[in-house]
Amino acid sequence: MNVILLGAPGAGKGTQAIRLAAKYSLPHISTGDIFRANIKGETPIGKVAKSYIDKGQLVPDEVTVQIVKERLAQDDCKVGYLLDGFPRTVSQAEALAEFSKVDAVINIDVPLTKLLRRITGRRLCGKCGASYHIDTLSGKTECSKCGGELIQRADDNEATVANRLEVYEKQTAPLVEYYENAGVLITVDGDADIEKVFTDIVAKLG
Ligand code: AP5
Ligand code: MG
Ligand code: ZN
Repeated sequence: MNVILLGAPGAGKGTQAIRLAAKYSLPHISTGDIFRANIKGETPIGKVAKSYIDKGQLVPDEVTVQIVKERLAQDDCKVGYLLDGFPRTVSQAEALAEFSKVDAVINIDVPLTKLLRRITGRRLCGKCGASYHIDTLSGKTECSKCGGELIQRADDNEATVANRLEVYEKQTAPLVEYYENAGVLITVDGDADIEKVFTDIVAKLG
């Protein structure tokens, strides 16, 4: 099963992808995570990606498409995949269609007004990557899974988030219609608790 998770920054793509990957035994492929790993490793791709991510802009399609194409060619994707954060432009979707057939696109729908708080309140474990939100951390600064220190993503500040949301509206939102026309779109209400959103996705995926 080849599945795409579509949604604005902070909609819950990563949160749901981890749960879906475990339930369906599919590899979770997040282009954002791939870029952040490259930035950490100071690779040439990381250097290019950082210059865009820091501004809340999209990394150029030619860089991103090539990364995904190579990743989907790996053995673990023979059973399918869960793509998180790709495609994000119509041209990326058209490129993907040339090397892979998409079975379902889950559009996690959250009102724009809620997204800023979700993103600026997000905290991540610097050691294991687990994701939290300050609203449910009750002041804790350590990861409950591994004890690692909780950190904030570099692009989760208010100014960059404003750009990311604008970029989403202009460049990514048109994909909703694109995949609706392709007959593979599944929309879920993402403005509900995490478990409810998950149950809804599973029910609609069948
Ligand atoms: P990426 O890493 O993909 O970031 P994003 O799309 O901005 O999305 P986020 O990861 O911020 O949000 P999410 O939907 O995963 O939400 P999460 O589950 O964490 O991309 C980063 C950058 O890389 C881009 O800006 C771009 O520069 C570049 N890039 C990546 N892909 C690219 C591509 N294809 N082309 C070009 N450039 C690309 O949840 C957020 C918070 O909300 C968490 O704190 C979570 O705990 C909480 N939360 C989640 N669900 C719920 C819920 N139901 N109720 C309450 N809180 C919730
Ligand atoms: Mg994410
Ligand atoms: Zn941890």
